[in-house]
Amino acid sequence: MSRASEFVVVANRLPVDRVVGEDGEPSWRRSPGGLVSAIAPLMRRRHGTWIGWAGAPDERLEPFEEDGMSLVPVHQSAEDIRLYYEGFSNATLWPLYHDVVAPPVYDRTMWDAYVRVNERFAEVTAKVAAKDAVVWIQDYQLQLVPALLRRLRPDLRIGFFLHIPFPPLELFWQMPWRRQILEGLLGADLVGFQLPGAAQNFVRLCRRLLDARTFKQDVFWEGRTVRARAFPISVDADELGGLIADPDVRRRAAEIREDFGDAKLLLGVDRLDYTKGITQRLDAFGELFRDGELRPGEAAFIQIATPSRERVEQYQLLRDQIEQQVGHINGEHGELGTTVVHYLHTSYDRAELAALFLAADVMVVTPLRDGMNLVAKEYVACREDLGGALVLSEFAGAAAELKRAYQVNPYDIDGLKKALLDALRDDPAEQSRRMRAMRRRVLEHDVDRWARDFLAALEEPTPTTAIAREA
Ligand code: ADP
Ligand code: F6P
Repeated sequence: MSRASEFVVVANRLPVDRVVGEDGEPSWRRSPGGLVSAIAPLMRRRHGTWIGWAGAPDERLEPFEEDGMSLVPVHQSAEDIRLYYEGFSNATLWPLYHDVVAPPVYDRTMWDAYVRVNERFAEVTAKVAAKDAVVWIQDYQLQLVPALLRRLRPDLRIGFFLHIPFPPLELFWQMPWRRQILEGLLGADLVGFQLPGAAQNFVRLCRRLLDARTFKQDVFWEGRTVRARAFPISVDADELGGLIADPDVRRRAAEIREDFGDAKLLLGVDRLDYTKGITQRLDAFGELFRDGELRPGEAAFIQIATPSRERVEQYQLLRDQIEQQVGHINGEHGELGTTVVHYLHTSYDRAELAALFLAADVMVVTPLRDGMNLVAKEYVACREDLGGALVLSEFAGAAAELKRAYQVNPYDIDGLKKALLDALRDDPAEQSRRMRAMRRRVLEHDVDRWARDFLAALEEPTPTTAIAREA
């Protein structure tokens, strides 16, 4: 085990995945998702230790250094991956916490695996953390770790941040292991959420389900005060600023634009996930051709979708559905030499993404539910030229901050069509005004500020009030 660390991040995944190429040679690749985009820059700056899984089954790897970070791998067997990761994390918690947009699976064997893997993470963390260290546990895969870790190491300062939405009482009540999950989270000193409403849901549940005493957003539990607060996550504005200043990125953006001639470019960039509303946005776009509002050559949609959770059934169904839908739209509305939807089922590097953001006239972000959605903020952070327009779902956490986006209800296809047309056709001066306001928000509230705010709150001493002692 590596030396004792004063600052430890614990997440299901390490920031890099170990992949073995066709030649049998292993290499490291950036892990998918917003959590890694947000935490990796902070870890490089704070020289902490990151505990997580390296992305492949049955590998027992030694701690190592990568890209300025100390990484401590936690192994997962093929069965753990099937039951804990694909099962309880992504077939139970993920859909339940995203408004039940797919039916959650409640399975006792999956729950047992969730407990087992959370115990393993707590044990590894207890060994790695220095005395009185600050430990920051991330996301829904590890909700039991705060209480498990406190039992092993009561000296630690423990924070937890949930990157995805936290559901209202009426939905959370379905969960057969609802008490255990709340009690797991209450092991932390500070529980962070993306939005104030999620923190309120949590406090209300603690009161109703556990009979805990609460005051505003504090929960009094086992003689301690647990604070629930909102910390909207954000993007690394410096990293993106550096990318868009790079002449290669600018050249690439110009090249992409040139490839599409006079066509307006609409862009979607997501993990291939049923919460992201990809089929809804493509439906709306396709109908604009059917209605004669757009003609081939006038607008093109680039949809980039990173493969994600590919063995979970709902993700396989979605992949088939999107492939069919893209084929249908291109078959109906494309012309020889003019494809209207360009669908790429792949992950792009940061420079290529930045070039796409610079080239896109309209960024289309239409989740049915999303904790925050960093892609929306990345687009805004890249549009230093004040060009471009953002179409953004009301159900993304980012909508609370990006009020000048073209906000839409993704379930309302007519509303979505109108938002796409407005974003395509509005006067450029109006577009710039909108972009300027959104940029101010994103640049002033970047990921560095998010992390500083969370860690300052975590390190603040929590008074043990009389009410907490009584509880
Ligand atoms: P989630 O965490 O649910 O995946 P977010 O929008 O919050 O959603 O974060 C996604 C992150 O992954 C962003 O930093 C985004 O740039 C990156 N990303 C998404 N799709 C791709 C892709 N196809 N290629 C490369 N990076 C991607
Ligand atoms: O916050 C969303 C999240 O689930 C992260 O916890 C995770 O790292 C990311 O999306 C990608 O998902 P996965 O680790 O399942 O590939």
